[in-house]
Amino acid sequence: MTNKPIYLDYNATTPVDPRVVDAMLPYFSEVFGNAASNDHEYGLEAKRAVDAARAQIAALINARPEEIIFTSGATESDNIAIFGVAERYADKGDHIITCVTEHKAVLDPCKRLEQLGKRVTYLPVDGDGRVDPDAVRKAITPETILISIMAANNEIGTVAPLAEIGAIAAEHDILFHSDAAQAVGHIPIDVEAMQIHLLSISAHKFCGPKGIGVLYRRRSNPRVDLAPVIYGGGHERGLRSGTLNVPSIVGMGKAAEIAKREMGAEAKRFRTWTQQMYQRFVEEIGDVVLNGHPTQRLPHNLNVSFTGVESRALIVQLAGAVAFATGSACTSESVEPSHVIEALDADETRVHSAIRISVGRFNTDAQIVSATDKIVDSVGSLKQLNALLATY
Ligand SMILES: Cc1ncc(COP(=O)(O)O)c(C=O)c1O
Repeated sequence: MTNKPIYLDYNATTPVDPRVVDAMLPYFSEVFGNAASNDHEYGLEAKRAVDAARAQIAALINARPEEIIFTSGATESDNIAIFGVAERYADKGDHIITCVTEHKAVLDPCKRLEQLGKRVTYLPVDGDGRVDPDAVRKAITPETILISIMAANNEIGTVAPLAEIGAIAAEHDILFHSDAAQAVGHIPIDVEAMQIHLLSISAHKFCGPKGIGVLYRRRSNPRVDLAPVIYGGGHERGLRSGTLNVPSIVGMGKAAEIAKREMGAEAKRFRTWTQQMYQRFVEEIGDVVLNGHPTQRLPHNLNVSFTGVESRALIVQLAGAVAFATGSACTSESVEPSHVIEALDADETRVHSAIRISVGRFNTDAQIVSATDKIVDSVGSLKQLNALLATY
């Protein structure tokens, strides 16, 4: 591990907490039952473990255990929420409101629905990446059946005014879904206070295992009905058939329990780190633009543009020393500029020089100082090179 670069890409994924691994281990071999086999103790003990995890996750978002639907991750949760509402509420309307900076897991299902004849409004964001609740209100039509606005952006960390949007949705009797993959486990999310009906969660963003997630689905005031996307044995109240992944569910539950307890102190530590880094960039590099909201942002995310320094060049130069990202991991294989930074009305230079740094549980003070030193040095040398090239 020591020769590897310092990992500063916690928005992409996180290492699994050793306490989570310990909790999971017995469920691979000792307690291996099928949680749906209620004829014998093997199945019943697996079901008890799943129920306990449901309660742990529900407690983190102020929901009830029966409102937790296990999925393979936030991508699947987003798909079930969007397609599930579109199909089940087709009699009520055909219009969805979302936002241009959403993750592809929301944008692509919305595009698919447009191909199927539904209508989607993609709201713009302001220069800090925030959706204006008033714009949400104005976009509502008598046919609107769903508002889907992410809790926190995966690239720039901007946190949405969820409670305000939730109040507007409730006032108009419209369902409110939020992709909270980057928010849950990091900042307080309360489905009651925020009047959220559907919420997508991913375990691997808060030190749980990959390939496991949750769709929170409100069961009262109002009861939300969904058409399934996957059909089969009727697991998860008919909404997501398929044998439950008990070890991962137990892991997600443990990760949620830890997050509930430690999130407050962790957020303070992370915010100190990201603020220290930004401060040093401003003082030691100068020409730096913060992408995202200055205060309404995830504590562990820092997205900046070092004007004139290509982010790819910086990443390649630091490849052996620091691991961070240019944009969201899911689109980083293509060389397309980030649709999120573009949405901030940023010029081309700012878009191409944007980097995302995201810190987490297993970083240390020393790592943060060392990574900052390296980034500052590297930006300095790339700037010198650029200046030299400009003279030719
Ligand atoms: C905002 C957001 N939504 C959805 C996803 C997809 O989550 P998962 O990897 O659990 O499918 C991610 C992960 O990158 C994300 O950041």
